[in-house]
Amino acid sequence: MIYSTSIQNLHDSLHEWRKHQESIAFVPTMGNLHAGHIELIKIAKTKAKRVVVSIFVNPLQFGEHDDFTRYPRTLEEDSRILEALDADLLFHPTAQDIYPEKAQTIVSVHNLANQYCGVARPGHFDGVATIVCKLFNLITPTIAVFGCKDFQQLTLIKIMVRDLHLPIEILGVKTIRDTHGLALSSRNSYLTEDETKQARLLYQTLTHAKEKIITHHTDFTKIEQTAIDNLKAAGFTPEYFKICRSNDLEPAQLIDNEIVILTAARLGKTRLIDNIAFSKPV
Ligand code: PAF
Repeated sequence: MIYSTSIQNLHDSLHEWRKHQESIAFVPTMGNLHAGHIELIKIAKTKAKRVVVSIFVNPLQFGEHDDFTRYPRTLEEDSRILEALDADLLFHPTAQDIYPEKAQTIVSVHNLANQYCGVARPGHFDGVATIVCKLFNLITPTIAVFGCKDFQQLTLIKIMVRDLHLPIEILGVKTIRDTHGLALSSRNSYLTEDETKQARLLYQTLTHAKEKIITHHTDFTKIEQTAIDNLKAAGFTPEYFKICRSNDLEPAQLIDNEIVILTAARLGKTRLIDNIAFSKPV
């Protein structure tokens, strides 16, 4: 595996592949790789000749009160995982390389950036769109692979790629869960043992709301409110629980068939997000 820590070195490494017109699948990450990332990389390997993985804890997507400094950084172990998966290149740039002092440009996907997770984390999605756009420009992949766990992020990136005419296919991969349904996330490492058990209730609440919708309950506001009340009663501090149209994340109407329910809730010091996407029976 090639290990690139600078933009110049990345360009030199990609040059040969470009010369031979080899296709590139790209998996952007912030490291602390878990089974969810491994699945993305395995799928990426089936989609192109070369696989590039980036590890960059992007300061621009963390707010003042977010966990930038305590975000788990496990580069050695991550590199071992990537070697074992036979990834072709690991791009691990410095913040100075990515955000030189003179940089003035931010990529912002209105209005989605300011909804749902964007309410509690102002600026977060501008940080995500900016870093992903930069990485796309640097790596020029044919396809980029993201987890569906952050459904809002995935949707926002699809919109950015469409709006900026970027010639990149975006592939969303099903969320990997533990045996109790908890979505895998680097942030799960912040949960205590008791909180880990409690955290499973988030997906159960999503599943319950889905059951209501597919059994023709039509009062979406009531379903959302019941879920919020149940999460509060179980010790969560819910931020939102929203039934949306899955293509653009607008609030779902009764005529919509492709649905995603999005939620974010705090448990102790940990902020958890999850979602469930499904087609309504006709
Ligand atoms: O999902 C993540 O890990 C990050 O938001 C991403 C896409 C790597 C951008 O920093």
